[in-house]
Amino acid sequence: MAPVKRIGIITSGGDCGGLNAVIKGIAREAYALGIESVIIPNGYAGLYNLIDLDEVVFLNEERVSHIDATLAGSEAGHSRVKVKKIEDDNKYKRIKEGLKKFGIDALIISGGDDTGSVVVDLSSQNIPCIHVPKTMDIDLQPYSVGGDSAVNMISVFGRNLKTTGMSHNRVLVLEVFGRYVGHTAFRGGVGAEADCILIPEIPVDFDIVYEHIKKTYFPRVERSDVKAGTYLIVVAEGIKTASGELLYDESAGVDAFGHKKLAGAGKYVRQQLEKRLKNDPDVISFMKKTGMYVPGVYKIPEVREVTPGHLVRSGHSSSYDVNFGYKAGAAAVMLLLEGKTGNTVLNVEGEKIYYQPTGDAIKRREVNLQEVTLFESLGICFGRETQKFKYEFIEEKEAIKRYM
Ligand code: F6P
Repeated sequence: MAPVKRIGIITSGGDCGGLNAVIKGIAREAYALGIESVIIPNGYAGLYNLIDLDEVVFLNEERVSHIDATLAGSEAGHSRVKVKKIEDDNKYKRIKEGLKKFGIDALIISGGDDTGSVVVDLSSQNIPCIHVPKTMDIDLQPYSVGGDSAVNMISVFGRNLKTTGMSHNRVLVLEVFGRYVGHTAFRGGVGAEADCILIPEIPVDFDIVYEHIKKTYFPRVERSDVKAGTYLIVVAEGIKTASGELLYDESAGVDAFGHKKLAGAGKYVRQQLEKRLKNDPDVISFMKKTGMYVPGVYKIPEVREVTPGHLVRSGHSSSYDVNFGYKAGAAAVMLLLEGKTGNTVLNVEGEKIYYQPTGDAIKRREVNLQEVTLFESLGICFGRETQKFKYEFIEEKEAIKRYM
């Protein structure tokens, strides 16, 4: 690999927390080592169109100081473009010409599984690149910047929703981003002290959810001296039936990568619960006992779905993501200078920089169902019969690997 004098920075896929820290980490490490870094704007769309740009932004000390690492989103901009799918036979040549035009020797690219697959693709086209893991979905093998920010945001939304939920005695269904895995719903739901968490890894049995509502929410309202109570369900957008069909609104279409846009899981959950509430003779006596029954107006407790959507990845980054982003960005520069192209930064621990081939790092990681059973034993419903938490004790003889 030729010596690297100028690095191009790309952020790609859906934006999230921590990305501006990644950019600052790259830029500051680069100029500390006497090399330059520039922004290639708007993800892979910008990479493809680099040749037509008049200029790129140099991240010198002054420019970097204007980037706020605590803000979510990315100063470099995003797009969802799979380079392989661009309908242009000369796409790789065009990209290389664009890089040459601006004297860019190598790329540091932050993104999730789709972005990572393009890192593998570009590396095989002899474009040196390093991947920094990023996705609020937390579905890569290593930790990915943006995950902690999203989880914190979901926890805050869930907790805040309880005030309005309590005021109206509603069952609230909070539908959250996370694609085909349930990490964000699981961790955010626990953080919000949700009563029930529904994730794609566990096909939902709505009769069990309903029984849990009757066992927890009904007595909660009955016991309250002011007859107030709420029940919070956090549902991942990608929940499925037992046969693996997604419970979503098909009219939402597909995104630029060709993935289904997931939406409608919350609505589906609401409809399932309303159906059961209407058909259950016990509900009228609960409504009467709690003073909620009004003939012709309130026969069942209200169920409402709330969909924060993109708000979950907006606003500010968590401090954890700012820390991780800075470290991972700086480490990516070091890996690049060492010629370790086609790799993903995993973590920096003391003086050790961990990395792995990008093709391995982007393999999908699902929620660990053994860990779910621990939370089931603590009373959270996951839409199935509670499973026993099986555990073993391990005395650690070597240093524990941690991310913080
Ligand atoms: O992959 C990140 C993510 O936020 C998913 O959780 C969500 O399904 C998707 O992106 C939404 O994408 P877009 O911003 O293209 O609507």
